[in-house]
Amino acid sequence: MSVIAKQCPDIQITLVDVNAARIAAWNDDNLDNIPVYEPGLAEIVGECRNRNLFFSTDIDKAIDEADMIFISVNTPTKNYGRGKGMAADLKYIELCARQIAHVAKNDKIVVEKSTLPVRTAAALKSILDNTGTGVNFHILSNPEFLAEGTAIKDLLEPDRVLIGGENKDAIQALVDIYARWVDRDKILTTNLWSSELSKLTANAFLAQRVSSINSISELCEKTGANVDEVAKAIGMDSRIGPKFLKASVGFGGSCFQKDILNLVYIARSYNLHKVADYWEQVIIMNDHQKHRFADNIIQTLFNTVNGKKIAILGWAFKKDTNDTRESASIYVADYLLNELANISVYDPKVPAEKVFIDLDNLNSRPSEENRTLVTVEKDPYLACKDAHAIAILTEWDEFKDYDWKRIKEHMMKPAFIFDGRKLLNRKEMEALGFIYYAIGE
Ligand code: UDX
Repeated sequence: MSVIAKQCPDIQITLVDVNAARIAAWNDDNLDNIPVYEPGLAEIVGECRNRNLFFSTDIDKAIDEADMIFISVNTPTKNYGRGKGMAADLKYIELCARQIAHVAKNDKIVVEKSTLPVRTAAALKSILDNTGTGVNFHILSNPEFLAEGTAIKDLLEPDRVLIGGENKDAIQALVDIYARWVDRDKILTTNLWSSELSKLTANAFLAQRVSSINSISELCEKTGANVDEVAKAIGMDSRIGPKFLKASVGFGGSCFQKDILNLVYIARSYNLHKVADYWEQVIIMNDHQKHRFADNIIQTLFNTVNGKKIAILGWAFKKDTNDTRESASIYVADYLLNELANISVYDPKVPAEKVFIDLDNLNSRPSEENRTLVTVEKDPYLACKDAHAIAILTEWDEFKDYDWKRIKEHMMKPAFIFDGRKLLNRKEMEALGFIYYAIGE
């Protein structure tokens, strides 16, 4: 919405949320305090806020005044009842639809921006079409393909914009907004169901690439092949392409796992069990990658990490974001904590409290125990001091520039590095005397 506000100064955009603290943070005079860290975002909010971009808790007023309403609430994996652990929880979407139906006095275009299971628009339509107020609603699906850490660039120069819908005028109204800065041939229009399903499919394909290369990384470690070399060799085949072939400790983030689980759930609900099994394997491989990384640390440290300090560099699920949802770090740390390791965490953008909330949410042990076994440092050198091993779990650029000689001097010996992002240079690390393990080598 900030990028639309920037590109279309004549369109007034009001962002509303029930969470007053969050809205207050978006309105904070100090742009360092806005709730999302994303390169370039604070500058855009600074430029547009109170010009044509407003943050408010007055939801009814915003609905009443709007011609077009984007529903951008979260659709977490259900953690109760039918479809628990797999299906998307559509509670918030439905509440939005009901509030819009209740408040709207004139015709509106309602845009699904949240990632939704295919055919959600049918549910929205049924709520909105039965208000009895004579108001007409047109539903569009406009899934978002931005990736975190590169969100602004992805929005300014998207590979494509996808708009699904039934009503030509409604589709055109949204096309006209994006067409201000996106080439018309990159704006695709489809039917509602293709648009909804494309979003889940795009994320499933991307995640599948990561799981595929991660599966090969394990084979590389056994055979003497090097996964970076394999990735480069296959990526130069123009039919395969070079992107999303970086072996890692496992993908994280708010989308991949959730969307695949959702796809699997939908396939099962249509009794397509072979289809469901096929996609579920992407998640199984990803869980395996995180576990085997942690297992390797334990085995290498002479089969016990009990009482040993292990430093984790990076808690975010990727660099250039403060988002930690489904981050591999959470699961690797949890696994090591089950073995009674002492963990010290450093991440340039994630606050200590978030680390503890993430661990507490797993319910693996009492919260006090997490606070006894885990420390979160503001200084990476302190995090690594007296550690038996360092695990690099996010590819933050700054990790490359550390004084690794100084870090080694203050560690226990032998000093181990487990590089889950293949970020450091093996030769340099070995020359400094580290025992260096990297995924897929
Ligand atoms: C993803 C999709 O890319 C985006 O289009 C969609 O809108 C939302 O979901 P995001 O989750 O923000 O975006 O990040 P992405 O860059 O896709 O990375 C996801 C995870 O995969 C990260 O943990 C990342 O480190 C990992 N990854 C990615 C790899 O391990 N290897 C790769 O080669 C690429």
